[in-house]
Amino acid sequence: KKSMPFYGKTVMVSAGPTYEAIDPVRFIGNHSSGKMGFAIADEFAKLGADVTLIAGPSTQKANQNLKRIDIISAQDMLNACSSIFDNTDITVMCAAVADYKPKVVSVQKIKKQENNLTLELEKTTDILASLGKNKKPHQILVGFALETNDEENYAKGKLEKKNLDLVILNSLNDKGAGFKSDTNKITIFNKALEKTVFDMKSKTEVAKDICEAILKIIK
Ligand code: C5P
Repeated sequence: KKSMPFYGKTVMVSAGPTYEAIDPVRFIGNHSSGKMGFAIADEFAKLGADVTLIAGPSTQKANQNLKRIDIISAQDMLNACSSIFDNTDITVMCAAVADYKPKVVSVQKIKKQENNLTLELEKTTDILASLGKNKKPHQILVGFALETNDEENYAKGKLEKKNLDLVILNSLNDKGAGFKSDTNKITIFNKALEKTVFDMKSKTEVAKDICEAILKIIK
């Protein structure tokens, strides 16, 4: 059916931030609202896909009928994504996953010290890159790139390094784009490094553009 172009397709979308625990009351997080990822998940569901949304801590609610798995940390998100990736046709990783986490999570609340406190951080696993390594030829993998400088080159680099089919660049330099706003301005690069620039739109409209770009690959 024309209105259900993703009918029969299984889709995974990651959304929101991750929280990396420091101790029982504190964490390292970021300003991601989850709005973009939820909009993408909703749009895919609307277009007939069987959608699983892997959501970090976010106040967003999905409007469509989809499976939602709530997670907290980057490690949780890695576990959830890895466990279902083999059974997905299309994956869009929109989450703002922490790149570092405290090396040691204190069991007790850390007490205020006399002097400065140093936290040692270790790298988290790059989920998108790890999925890219395991990607099968029929699977489509899409990543986001949020940069503050030299954005196009970083975006193209990610496309190749992480074995992606599309990379979606959204810039913090554009007013009304990025984390908390209801609008976004994106540029899409495909594998041939062809570039499509879109106008500033509501995140719902942006999600439609992203689904359309993915549909072009499938066809
Ligand atoms: O390399 P960078 O983190 O900027 O790439 C961003 C893309 O990678 C996004 O699609 C994001 O969801 C994904 N990512 C991930 N796991 C990480 C870090 C980023 O899936 N640990």
